[in-house]
Amino acid sequence: MNPASSSKPAPWNAALPPGRAAAYRSIRQTTQALAAPLSAEDCAIQSMPDASPVKWHLAHTSWFFETFVLTPHHRGYHALDPAYRALFNSYYNAIGERHPRGERGLLSRPSLDEILKYRRHVDEAMLELLSGEGLSAEASAMIELGLHHEQQHQELILTDVKHLLSRNPLKPAYQKQWPLTPIHARERRWISRVGGVQRIGHSGAAFCFDNETPRHRVWLDVFEIASHPVTHGDFIEFIDDDGYRRPELWLSAGWDTLTARGWQAPLYWQLRDGRWYAFTLHGEVEVDPHTPICHVSFFEADAFARWAGARLPTEAEWEVAARDAPLDGNFLESGALHPLALREAPADGTPAQAFGDVWEWTRSDYAPYPGYRPAAGAVGEYNGKFMCGQYVLRGGSCATPSSHIRSTYRNFFAPDARWQFSGLRLARDGERRTAR
Ligand SMILES: [Fe+2]
Repeated sequence: MNPASSSKPAPWNAALPPGRAAAYRSIRQTTQALAAPLSAEDCAIQSMPDASPVKWHLAHTSWFFETFVLTPHHRGYHALDPAYRALFNSYYNAIGERHPRGERGLLSRPSLDEILKYRRHVDEAMLELLSGEGLSAEASAMIELGLHHEQQHQELILTDVKHLLSRNPLKPAYQKQWPLTPIHARERRWISRVGGVQRIGHSGAAFCFDNETPRHRVWLDVFEIASHPVTHGDFIEFIDDDGYRRPELWLSAGWDTLTARGWQAPLYWQLRDGRWYAFTLHGEVEVDPHTPICHVSFFEADAFARWAGARLPTEAEWEVAARDAPLDGNFLESGALHPLALREAPADGTPAQAFGDVWEWTRSDYAPYPGYRPAAGAVGEYNGKFMCGQYVLRGGSCATPSSHIRSTYRNFFAPDARWQFSGLRLARDGERRTAR
């Protein structure tokens, strides 16, 4: 069954309704719909320091509106509990103490019910604010940022829950909707792009995060990019060719990580009787060779590309190749919550499945664009502070809300991170055809 054509509607909305109050309600409801299949115990546990309990996500996204919108812009707003200011703060800055990230799973209090009450408290005040006249430009901008911030946490709820459930020997499913779609093999081909001066980064009045600006010029040599993402089947070939046992294929730091952690396959994979199985949000299933690979680190993506005689694209190459591709794809709203089978490549020469399914690792260090200025105030610290030791991923995944993604969007994770829906697309140098 293809969930996109299923008669059962997903519990979240496909498109945001017009109007700010309606968009606010829709995004807040989606977050709670994602938590609905979970028990209070599921919502409380933290499976590793990088992942947060669902309860914390539910509270932290409310904390954002309370701290940056209600406290400065809603006269008469009173905090439900002043202690939440530090408890659900994720920022290292002057706005308050921060509870240690790795101890979020120890917060048995406040209970899930109390956190849901906190959400209602914030929602009532926010809807009151949104229904009033004369919302300042600053307040409006913070609300928009808060909604995009909440969508980021919607994806994190799913990836963190997936990691949590994977650690349970019962292999519980978050939802059961398997198999997802008919499987088709697709022939991958190379798409050529001419070199020269190109512009990347966001421009225009629509929302973007500060790290997507300013739009600027880059020089690209001629390159080629694959029409499709690398698949689970491709990765099985890499494993069968001793890909995880050949140090010459790996970056030195990648090989050290592999050795220290005993990596033999992508995250969530298990070999039984010669067949690969993977844990998904639908429980454990046999690995489907024709779907985009997910849950590989930058190190694994880089080693695979070297084995394949190719390389990862830079983020500029990725953006230039994908910017004309349609922004449709397998996003959160499809309800699949897993990459879907390869589709036919578009006739217009744009890459297939650039958006949705899996975030694609690029070779680019997560660094400021030339002329980058962090947004003013505490929220500006959100992106700029992480510009060290991380790599850029592009395109969104099956857990990304569709209204959250765009071709200039820069996601970023450390090179050893594997719990996001992260995969790759190959690139290689093209023939030098640029006139001198
Ligand atoms: Fe956050």
